[in-house]
Amino acid sequence: MTNASGTHSDAHSAPAGRGPWSAPPGTARINPAGRRLVVISNRVGSMRGAVRAGGLAVAMVDMLKASGGIWCGWSGKLAPVSPERPEVTQADGMTAATIELTQAEHDAYYNGFANSCLWPLFHNRIDLTAFDRSYYDGYLKVNAKFARVFAPLFKAQDLIWVHDYHLIPFAQELRAMGCRQPMGFFLHIPFPPRDVLLTLPNAGRLLQALFAYDVIGFQTDRDVERFVDYVVNEQDGRVSGDVVTVFERSAVVRSFPIGIDVDNFVQLAGSAEAKRQAERLATRRFAGRQLIVGVDRLDYTKGLPLRFLAYELLLETYPETHGRLVYLQIAPPTRGAVPEYAQIRAELEGLEGHINGRFAEVDWTPLAYINRAYSRRALAGIYRAADISLVTPLRDGMNLVAKEYVAAQDPADPGVLVLSRFAGAAVQMRAALIVNPYDKVAVAEALQTARHMPLEQRRNRHAELMRGLRDYDIDRWRTDFLEALAAAGARHVAAEA
Ligand code: G6P
Repeated sequence: MTNASGTHSDAHSAPAGRGPWSAPPGTARINPAGRRLVVISNRVGSMRGAVRAGGLAVAMVDMLKASGGIWCGWSGKLAPVSPERPEVTQADGMTAATIELTQAEHDAYYNGFANSCLWPLFHNRIDLTAFDRSYYDGYLKVNAKFARVFAPLFKAQDLIWVHDYHLIPFAQELRAMGCRQPMGFFLHIPFPPRDVLLTLPNAGRLLQALFAYDVIGFQTDRDVERFVDYVVNEQDGRVSGDVVTVFERSAVVRSFPIGIDVDNFVQLAGSAEAKRQAERLATRRFAGRQLIVGVDRLDYTKGLPLRFLAYELLLETYPETHGRLVYLQIAPPTRGAVPEYAQIRAELEGLEGHINGRFAEVDWTPLAYINRAYSRRALAGIYRAADISLVTPLRDGMNLVAKEYVAAQDPADPGVLVLSRFAGAAVQMRAALIVNPYDKVAVAEALQTARHMPLEQRRNRHAELMRGLRDYDIDRWRTDFLEALAAAGARHVAAEA
């Protein structure tokens, strides 16, 4: 749930005049007075989340404030002894409840099972996946601890919404403690194909734990298909409409493609800081040159080495680009304790040196590679200034950078999005230049096409992309999910009565 800048985020605050609980025309509205919302995720977003805390975090905070809700999770800090009581802070009608973890808990749960096992596996990187029983035990223990520590804060009428792969067994722990609230789970990352999942020794147990939720949400229909394929063919599950029954439990299983707060990002792109940033780019380093931008957490799933190589191929194939084009890659480091992240960092530094060494002139550096995070406003300005955005993950749940780049464009003179077919966003963003990120020739050709795309075509593509962004924005995402959760919860209560 963090954005590319590595801050907890991904979208933005609710648009003015539209409450965070309001549904788009034609859909029902949840009454926040009846239900308080509890959000649980590994990291907790800042309640003062204006500039650095980004989109999804701010959207969640808005929604929590509207329902007087709570956000629970890890404090982001380590302690010699992990407390059994949360630290609770309140501001503007919302509560944040956090606990610290010990180094050992963090190593097994976060660095271990979550980020050395589930993360690579769910992104189809069996080769990088570390199956270690002690990681799994630590993961279960931290989930049980979260349940123990946070459950006393929950009320019977709450809706409980759990986010991402760190917390799959959380609901199972709560149910074992007797909690009967509606509980929903949303997976922000892709769900893997059956054969990949089967390589995980405890896949069955993990999947069984998911069925303690009433709603299981995925980013795309393809993720839902893969999930159903596993449940039906490996566990004898049954499917009726969007209800999947297995392990003697039923859950609603659907896709809820996460979006952004479009108007808010449009506003950010017009802010003074964004303009300053764009002018800085235009007048200094990139003066008069076309600018390609990439913004990603420094993660091996983002396809950065191949992206650098595709850029090198572009420079090699089209010498007229020399001196006229700059590629700015912003990649804040992340998960530094996991060895693969140190490796990818070293690999990219090598490639950057190679490409600049090969093509740079005294007055031109073709590749600017930056390992730090930028504020959302600054990013909005950078997006606005960029002629092309290169978003080529090898696998990605959704990818909100692609959406934010489009929202930040000047509709009269918009830039071009080059987007991987393996990002969840590609399903809705067909008007981008869709590429196979493994095919560096195709990526280099797409960049060349983008460089020369006529204004009218850029405008048409941008208008179509904007329609898609507005059609399923962050407001619709959260409203759809919570409606499904409230309805599924009500069905369970009726069935149990
Ligand atoms: C992805 C995951 C999020 C996670 C984020 C940042 O977007 O889906 O759940 O918060 O990466 O990862 P980090 O390990 O830095 O929290």
